[in-house]
Amino acid sequence: MDPSEQQQWKKAAAEAAAKLVEGGMVIGLGTGSTAALFVSALGRRVTDEHLRISGIPTSERTAEQARGLKIPLTSFAEHLQIDLTVDGADEIETGSLYLIKGLGGALLREKIVAAASKRMVVIADETKLSARLGTLSPVPVEVSQFGWQATQKRLSELGGNPTLRPGKDGKPCVTDGGNYIIDCAFGPMENPKEIAHHLDHVVGSVEHGMFLKFASEVIVGGRDGVTVLRKTNG
Ligand code: A5P
Repeated sequence: MDPSEQQQWKKAAAEAAAKLVEGGMVIGLGTGSTAALFVSALGRRVTDEHLRISGIPTSERTAEQARGLKIPLTSFAEHLQIDLTVDGADEIETGSLYLIKGLGGALLREKIVAAASKRMVVIADETKLSARLGTLSPVPVEVSQFGWQATQKRLSELGGNPTLRPGKDGKPCVTDGGNYIIDCAFGPMENPKEIAHHLDHVVGSVEHGMFLKFASEVIVGGRDGVTVLRKTNG
């Protein structure tokens, strides 16, 4: 895979999504390298077209980028509903549009923002697509620091082959919410709903990175240009 070609695919998807934004909208701003390209494209529209929107960022990283581009930010204190969220994903199951998110460590805020959105558009390059969820990516689970070892044991009992995610300094990675992340390699899933249901009930888990029934559509950049995927099952 040529990294510059993949970058072009991400950019094409991000720019197509930026065209969906209309004046007056509250926009959920995703996290990750693809979402950052969307935030850049949106920032250009805000500057060049004087587009009046406000954004709710899904991470401190994205908030900093948006502030740098003069995108006005808002919060749930002012807006309980988001018109449109645009975010990346680590894996997208074609057909169901089920997602795995959180390799960038922002899954908790991403899920809160997605759940409060009327429409969630996922942007990705074609390397993120799979026929069965779990083929490409582990499922990140954000867990309380307190008792993480006990939570990890429970995740292991669920067949998650869990590993505590290290940070850059070799210590455990700490999220914006002050939690740890345990990555669970379930492998290709026959029944993603059942695994998500089990993860919903793990004590010590704050949230997990399986986003089922969140994506309204997926904009994919790839060899054939930009295509839009819609749900056909699931
Ligand atoms: C962030 O926590 C993730 O959910 C990202 O959306 C995901 O990792 C995609 O990131 P890239 O666009 O960098 O692949």
